[in-house]
Amino acid sequence: MRRPDLSIGTWVSLGFALAGALLAGLVALAVTLQGRIAASADAQLDVIGPRAAAAASLESAVLHLSLTARAYALMPEPARMDALQGALRRLEGAAARFGAVPKQGEGAALADRILAAVPPFEKAAVALGTVVATGGDDAAIRAREATLPPMREELLELLRGFSAIQQRHDAGASHTILAYQRDTVRTLVLAFAAVALLLAATAWVVVTEVRRPAKRLVDAARRLAAGDYSAAAGLEAQAADGGPRGELTELARAFAAMAAELRDREERLAAQNEELQAQNEELQSKEEELHGQNEELQVQHEELQAQNEELQSQGEALRASDARLSHLVEALSQADRRKNEFLAVLSHELRNPLAPVLNALTVLERGDPSGAQGRHARQVIARQVAHLARLVDDLLDVARITQGKIQLRRTHLELGTAVRQAAEDLGSLLEARGLRLALDVPERELWVHADAARIAQVVGNLVQNAAKFTDGGGTVTVAVDATPAGRARVRVRDDGIGMPPDVLQRLFQPFVQAEGTLARTRGGLGLGLALVKGLVELHGGTVDAASAGAGRGATFTVELPLDGVPVRAADTAAPRPAAPRRVLVVEDNPDSAETLRDLLELAGHHADIALDGRQALERCRTARPDAIVCDLGLPDMDGYELARTLRADPELSSVLLVALSGYALPDDLARSAQAGFDAHLAKPARFEAIEALLAGARRQRG
Ligand SMILES: Nc1ncnc2c1ncn2[C@@H]1O[C@H](COP(=O)(O)OP(=O)(O)OP(=O)(O)O)[C@@H](O)[C@H]1O
Ligand SMILES: [Mg+2]
Repeated sequence: MRRPDLSIGTWVSLGFALAGALLAGLVALAVTLQGRIAASADAQLDVIGPRAAAAASLESAVLHLSLTARAYALMPEPARMDALQGALRRLEGAAARFGAVPKQGEGAALADRILAAVPPFEKAAVALGTVVATGGDDAAIRAREATLPPMREELLELLRGFSAIQQRHDAGASHTILAYQRDTVRTLVLAFAAVALLLAATAWVVVTEVRRPAKRLVDAARRLAAGDYSAAAGLEAQAADGGPRGELTELARAFAAMAAELRDREERLAAQNEELQAQNEELQSKEEELHGQNEELQVQHEELQAQNEELQSQGEALRASDARLSHLVEALSQADRRKNEFLAVLSHELRNPLAPVLNALTVLERGDPSGAQGRHARQVIARQVAHLARLVDDLLDVARITQGKIQLRRTHLELGTAVRQAAEDLGSLLEARGLRLALDVPERELWVHADAARIAQVVGNLVQNAAKFTDGGGTVTVAVDATPAGRARVRVRDDGIGMPPDVLQRLFQPFVQAEGTLARTRGGLGLGLALVKGLVELHGGTVDAASAGAGRGATFTVELPLDGVPVRAADTAAPRPAAPRRVLVVEDNPDSAETLRDLLELAGHHADIALDGRQALERCRTARPDAIVCDLGLPDMDGYELARTLRADPELSSVLLVALSGYALPDDLARSAQAGFDAHLAKPARFEAIEALLAGARRQRG
């Protein structure tokens, strides 16, 4: 017989539905049977209990009536009469209850006999009671009393028979119920066995229909898991063959589809994996590249950091230099202001002497040069020119001191004498201003190692200041002594206009003056004290100013180191008077050249002029001069070249060569000496200085 083509689910559902229905039927059957058995048992019990109780109650009521009747008969008391009546009522009640209970079979007939025997027994008891109550005699009582026991015994005998019959009947009923119960249990066991068989059959179907195809599926899954995708083909064939039915066929198909999908995915994954691997390699190479770049960046970072630190330190340096710069700018603007003030002062101071010179020259032109006015005019010119020369000298000296280019010509100098001379040289100036000079120079000699001319310059400046800033009638005191610390000290004191503290603080700097440029009443460039300080310090000394305030005079104190070794007095032999010499003046400024020539001729010399270098060489060759006084800045060849040419010429090399130039700084002096000059005089030179040099010139053969 061909098995119906049902799915596993259907098989299982059918099996379990059948088993379920059978089980439900069985349970209903068991419940019904059990109900019936219980009902019959209950009915049995409902009958047995009350029936036995009614029989027992009737038996006890019979005995009770018998006893109470006898007791009343023996002792006829009212209470016993009441008890007899109660016993009668009890027997009636018990008989009524006995009559009411159901009875079966022979029991029912016996019960009728019992119930029929009860009333005679009651009557007999009532009759006994009545006899006793009515005071019947003992015989009557005995007679009546004797009726009772046989009736009682009959009743009891009947009741015992009834109980035995009923007991037998009850036992039979119980047996019936038990047998019924046994049958019911047997039926149920058989039914349950049938259900179990049905369930086993269902399980067998499930196992056979599910297990094999499921095993094939598991095998296929394992092979797939191991990467064997040919298992999918087997499953597809199995599904196509109609192997496992229903869900398993579906499962096999789904599995086969899944395997195919898996294979596809695996192939795609493999492709993607290869792609990823390629990308990974690319990434790796990029990472290496990045690593390299990173290292490079690190190096650059370190370099940048170093540069940053450098920049930072440069920034700090810049800030510092910025601060220095602003300081410098401030100083520069101050210097600029001072320079402007100075230029105004300079212009004023240079123009001032030119006015009297111009006036004096005009006097000489228009009047009689040899008369009193002419003499006075010449004195004015000489004074003003000397004043101008001093201004220029001071300027140059300050510049040289600032540049450290002044060289001292030190000798062993007696300070007292030098100071006295310098102060006395200014005697006429003080006198002219109506001032008194007080000299306080000690007897004891105080020797210093100093440049006499510069010491005179220092003292001269201080005394000139004292004269300039003290009004007529005042006193200028010049004192020399030694300090307790063993230094030579010069003090110049006056009782003039004095100085406020703020001026005192600024003194000794070039161009510093108490009076502003617009309120200049006493003249000067503001260089004197700067010169004094520079010169004193070159000598290793100090200078200091003190004033008690405006209008209270001033004191300037110079201290110099003492030099304990006295030296011979300097050779004071008077210079020899100059013998007449042939002198060539080389100068491109005709005025300068001619005035100098005139002076030389006035002094008895033979003088000639050359206006440039070439002319000078010609004149030298023709006139063979003993000395040449030569300007340095010449139009064609300069003074240095001329000197070198002359020194190179054996015929002319022994001539006395004196440079006369506005260039008079130490460098200029060194350069002229190098070119072959014997001496270098700064313009304007005192004629005495030129004469002194000419005195030493050798006369040329000529
Ligand atoms: N004895 C003094 N009493 C009062 N003030 C003085 C005295 N000496 C100097 N001074 C003040 O000091 C300033 C500077 O003096 P310093 O000698 O340097 O210049 P100056 O005398 O004005 O000009 P220069 O000396 O160049 O002719 C003076 O202008 C003045 O204000
Ligand atoms: Mg001065």
